[in-house]
Amino acid sequence: MARREESPASGGGTFARPRSAGMVRPIRPRRNRRADWARRLVRETVVTPDDLIWPIFLVAGKGVREPVAAMPGVVRHSVDEAVRAAAEAAGLGIPAIALFPYTDPALRDAKGSQALNSDNLVCRACKAIKDSVPEIGIITDVALDPYTSHGHDGLLEDGRILNDATVEVLVQQSLVQARAGADVIAPSDMMDGRVGAIRAALEAEGMIDTQIMAYSAKYASSFYGPFRDAIGSSATLVGDKRTYQMDFANSDEALREAELDIAEGADMIMVKPGLPYLDILRRLKDRFAMPTFAYQVSGEYAMICAAGERGWMDRDRCMMETLAAFKRAGADGVLTYFAIDAARMLNDA
Ligand code: PBG
Repeated sequence: MARREESPASGGGTFARPRSAGMVRPIRPRRNRRADWARRLVRETVVTPDDLIWPIFLVAGKGVREPVAAMPGVVRHSVDEAVRAAAEAAGLGIPAIALFPYTDPALRDAKGSQALNSDNLVCRACKAIKDSVPEIGIITDVALDPYTSHGHDGLLEDGRILNDATVEVLVQQSLVQARAGADVIAPSDMMDGRVGAIRAALEAEGMIDTQIMAYSAKYASSFYGPFRDAIGSSATLVGDKRTYQMDFANSDEALREAELDIAEGADMIMVKPGLPYLDILRRLKDRFAMPTFAYQVSGEYAMICAAGERGWMDRDRCMMETLAAFKRAGADGVLTYFAIDAARMLNDA
């Protein structure tokens, strides 16, 4: 009998060891890959529509589906179209959508006042979707960048982002969204202490069931480019977001951020961007065992689509490979602009 040894690196699998150099028995991992049935049998990670969250963009008007230049196939939806989109997503088995508004530049100001308007695009979309498609979860983004004339997520004074004053506004924004029917409040602003403040305010208002998905490890990233076009903040953004979003060189810092968000009352945590940050995703999942999400951001989507259009890569296969990679790295789900296409492929398979 060959000596068998536990291999911690493979999660406890066993490997046959040749007794002596003279009788090497070839180890053949390829046996399990030989046939489709065998590959399916040993597959560790499976992606289903239940893993997908679809971010959608909103714009004023009726019957509007306005293409976003750097995101082929992605449109800004007027509220009525967003309702149809939500119904389509629900029909494909997608559990939740995330709403992001394009605000008319005339309505943007230094304080992001539209964020607190209970009749703004996001609130109207929440109500309309809740009325027509009650079975889908609605996630709303908490941050001021779609509403500020300077394009920052917080209040700006003398070139500095004010933390605590911003948190007060974000709390009000969260309440406005929760009252409009948002199921999940998702602060993407990276201000210190915002999750705790939002949680306390929700409790005080009796909205004890509203979930919080914290953008815990959100990096200052160039992969957000196309998104900023979609919500119209790239034209206005003054400077960059490096005093609040994380330095992409850091990993331990993500653990501290997530620990704080969880202690402050987050129900779910998120890592963003996605693919370049799978190491962060794995660390957070292993450390905290929380529902953990990855955001495959606009630039990641744009890259795959652009290479696909040029015939340099197979768009759909790359899409499925990346989604499996997120799950393999520990994600419970993925926010992705591919959600509809991926759900369709998965349902057809
Ligand atoms: C801003 C926000 C951003 C994204 C989601 N919320 C951009 C930013 O921080 O500038 C990016 C999403 C994407 O690129 O797909 N609150």
